[in-house]
Formats: sequence, structure tokens, C-alpha cells
Amino acid sequence: MKDISEIRADFPILDRKVYEKQLVYFDNGATTQKPQCVIDAMNDVYTTYNSNIHRGVHLLSDLSSEAYENARETVRSFINAEKKEEIIFTSGTTGSINGIAFSFGERYINTGDEIIISHLEHHANIVPWQMMCERKGALLRVIPINDKGEIIIGEYLKLLSSKTKLVSVSQASNALGTITPLNDIISAAHEINVPVLVDGAQGVQHGNVDMKKLDCDFYVFSGHKIYGPAGTGVLYGKEKWLSELPPFQGGGDMVDKVTFAKTTYNVLPFKFEAGTMNYPGAIALGRALNYVTETGREAIALREKSLLSYATKRLSEIDGLKIFGTSDSKISTISFLLKNIHPYDAGMILDKMGIAVRTGTHCAQPVMDYFGIDGTIRASLCFYNTNEEIDSLVAGVNKVISMFS
Ligand code: ALA
Repeated sequence: MKDISEIRADFPILDRKVYEKQLVYFDNGATTQKPQCVIDAMNDVYTTYNSNIHRGVHLLSDLSSEAYENARETVRSFINAEKKEEIIFTSGTTGSINGIAFSFGERYINTGDEIIISHLEHHANIVPWQMMCERKGALLRVIPINDKGEIIIGEYLKLLSSKTKLVSVSQASNALGTITPLNDIISAAHEINVPVLVDGAQGVQHGNVDMKKLDCDFYVFSGHKIYGPAGTGVLYGKEKWLSELPPFQGGGDMVDKVTFAKTTYNVLPFKFEAGTMNYPGAIALGRALNYVTETGREAIALREKSLLSYATKRLSEIDGLKIFGTSDSKISTISFLLKNIHPYDAGMILDKMGIAVRTGTHCAQPVMDYFGIDGTIRASLCFYNTNEEIDSLVAGVNKVISMFS
């Protein structure tokens, strides 16, 4: 792996100051910063070959279509999916889950059927299923968690039944950082032929993800959380499902033949890509994934593990600081509260010191309800962060505490 100064040099924004202080960016769970190569890839589309994909007979359209399809192949290879046809570009995790919730609901869900999610989910993996359940008269069942913020597998096994039609769980909790025991969840569901959707929004950027090994039926993630552009995302689905499911949007490019009497649909993956796609974004997402591969996914995971362990140790030493999410198995995200200090106040003061953290419910209100709190302060770290930045956070937190004491 490159050394840390070389890595940081790849991300121009990390050099900037806020309020004349050096930026310390610990809000990577919300969105990651972009390396120059991703910014360049996006610029390159618009400055040299911009044209709509799959439509023109002219050179620019060919170049654009080729780059877009190459990006699809990059995604396929990055998650080790069997086929390129199983990779659908979307607007992000939310778009992907909404799409599947609609299609799957239309095709397979009837009154009284059940969908299982967990208490750890963020709103993107709750609300689309609630909407689907409301539409189809189905029931949402929720796997409970324990005080460490871990899914209770024994309770999950009890929820699985002949009524279960789909399980949808995140790979890691955005609010607490807990990593989900996916293998146990997937194998138990598959034993009774229930498909599993894995929400990789907080997982794909933290280590290797392999569709052939994981064997989930659907996998979704957002481009902007893995160093790619906002408004990009991926929906992976096993071909056997995608070929059966109806499209979730209609429009150009997803069709084969259109008449007023009947429309037939295009083949996979185009059946699920209606209208002009965000092709510059998808192309730049491909570049982001290549950047991650070049940097080394194992090396990234190791570095983040070390950052997590240092940050957990340093923050735990602070009197009055309580960490929420204390599983042994976590991504590099730490949620905490400072006694008697509202997270928003703490976040505002840290911001003035140049330290960007997220405060609030993190779009995961049920997690906060479980702990009986209004929100937390969340530091979500990634491989371009440093121990020195963690020291700055610790100093900042101590200052916040002293201001309120
Ligand atoms: N889901 C994003 C987060 O965790 C926005 O912050």
C-alpha cells in the first residue's frame, strides 16, 4: 500500500482548511471524499466524449457506451458476480432497494406474507419494505438486537417461517458500525428457499465482497460511499431473480418493442435501466472501484481496523464518554455520547475546530429508540484518516466537555 501521505495526496479536499483549521473529515459513513482520478474521470467524459449511451450511431456515443459498459464489467469483477447482466446501475442504495421492493412485491408478495429486516437498519432498508407491505398486505418482521448493538441470530431463526418471502439486512450498521453475520443469515434463509438482499452501503468500501462466496440473492450499494460520485449506485441480483422480476421503471432503453397495445422489455441488464442513465457517474464509479483495487482492499481493511482500534481506545479513556455499538465485529465507525451534552451542540463545536462528524439519528431512528436516546455523535473513519486526526478528535471532545462543565 502507498504510504499515508501519498494516499492523502490522492484526495485534494483533505488538504483544505475550514475556519482556518486543518479539515479533519470523519463523516465518511455519510459520504466519502473523491480521489483526483475519479474527478478526472468525470471531467474526461464531459470534456472529451460526452454523448448519450446506447443511442447514437456516432463516435462519441460509441465511446460513451463503451466506457459505461466497461464500468459495468468493473463492478462485476469488483464484487465477483457471475455475469455482467446481473449488474444494474441505479441512483444509489435507496434507489436499488426501492426498485427491488417494488418489483419483488409486484411479482411475489401476497396478503399475509412476511419480510424480515433487522432492528439495525437505516431508513433506506426499512421504509421501502413498509411501503411494499402496505401495498400488498404483507407484514414486516424485525430481528431484535442486544445491548452491544448486535443482531440476535437465535431470534432471527425463530422469525423464519413458510410465510417469509424475503430477508433484507445491512452488511454493517451505519449508526453503530456493527458487522452483520451474513453467512449465518443467508444460509438459514436459503435452507427454506428464501432470498436475501444485502445492503452493502456500509460494507462494500471496507473489505472484499464476493457474490459467489456470499451467495446472497441481491446486493446493493452507493457509489458515493466508496469514493465515487453522488447519484450513482449498484443493484446486483442473481440472474434467476432478475429475469423473473418486472421492471421498476418504464421508459426508453428498457424496452424491446413498444406499441400502444403491448410493450415488450429489453434483455438484462437494460430491462432495469430506464431513460438516460447517469453514465458519467457510472463511468467515474468504475474508476473509483479501480482506485480501491489499486490501493488494495485487504490493506484498506487492515488500516481501518487499526484506526478503529486506536480511536476506540482513545475515546474510551475520556471520562463521561459512552460508546454505542460495542460489538467485537465492527467497521471503522464509532457512535458516542458525552454525558449531559446534546450531540448537536458537540458536533457544532467540533465543526468550529475543523472536525467534521455526523450528529443525530443517522437515518436510523429505531436504533436510537432501542437505546432510548435522541441521537449520537458519529465518527466514521476510512483509510485516508490518521491517528493524528483521531488525537485531534480526542482533544476536541475534551474541549467540548470542559466548555460544558
Ligand atoms: N446513510 C448515510 C449515513 O449513514 C447518509 O450518514
